[in-house]
Amino acid sequence: MTRRHPTLHQLEIMTVLARHRNMTQAAKELHMSTAALSVQVKQLAAIVGAPLHEQVGKQLFLTGAGRQVELAAQDILERLEALYEALEEDRGLERGTLKVSVVTTAKYFVPRLLGRFCKQHPGIDVSLEVDNRHGLLERLAQNLDDLYVMGSAPEDLQVVAVPFMENRLVVVAPVTHPLVGRASVPPAALNGEPFVMREPGSGTRLAAERFFASHKVHVTVRMTLGSTEAIKQAVAGELGLAVLSAHAIGPELACGDLAVLDVVGFPLVRWWYALHPAGKRPSPIARAFLAYLEAEGAASAPPVDRRPRRTG
Ligand code: PGA
Repeated sequence: MTRRHPTLHQLEIMTVLARHRNMTQAAKELHMSTAALSVQVKQLAAIVGAPLHEQVGKQLFLTGAGRQVELAAQDILERLEALYEALEEDRGLERGTLKVSVVTTAKYFVPRLLGRFCKQHPGIDVSLEVDNRHGLLERLAQNLDDLYVMGSAPEDLQVVAVPFMENRLVVVAPVTHPLVGRASVPPAALNGEPFVMREPGSGTRLAAERFFASHKVHVTVRMTLGSTEAIKQAVAGELGLAVLSAHAIGPELACGDLAVLDVVGFPLVRWWYALHPAGKRPSPIARAFLAYLEAEGAASAPPVDRRPRRTG
């Protein structure tokens, strides 16, 4: 004999009834009449072969069988919910869109990571915005993108911030500079040196200014430029020194256009963070990219990984 099973609707009714312990309120939540709800509960009781509730005065109680049915109903409905989420996730990974905004300096490595990620998910559409830290914080406050990559998590916004890769800031000089090749240059030796600085609002500039202030070093800002490429050219042209991320100067160091000074206290070790607003659940593809960044960062981490904690 084939067994009769409850319908999913009857199981849902059971979970709502258990929550309200009141037929009228349960019927209201389910947008059905109390009579129709009562019929469904009776049919369910007939299927499982035991009464599911009893009425004591105005109060409705589940019987032992009723509680067991309610627990099973919860399990089944949650399992179905998980199935729908997993299917949704698969669809999102095949055809989702991913909007990423990165600070100026991160353009030296994020596009490459995105490229490799897109090879794994060829059907997705990606958009990449590049702005300085200040611009990114504004985009973040307006919730314009799925993920943001910047040099430190903002303190005044509620975010989930995942550190994924070290960001070493170094003092860059033209190869002809007298401090090139000197070991352990004290910060005070930078006093009065002309510097080519990033624009206000840049995280790199902020970190450099904090270092100079904490070491009471007074540099001369010879020029302010919003482009790291332009800063590199200006330094190579002997307009001054600069503080830049090591991510941005690989080719120039390799071909001897620029040199890194061994200033005590440098490199300033910062971290690249991928973040999103705390209240926002990232899309499946954004979650996948976040996990990808973490894995890539871990793969390139130094032997002792002093990665800061994820926040949020
Ligand atoms: P920036 O940001 O490229 O705007 O300087 C870098 C950072 O946040 O560390």
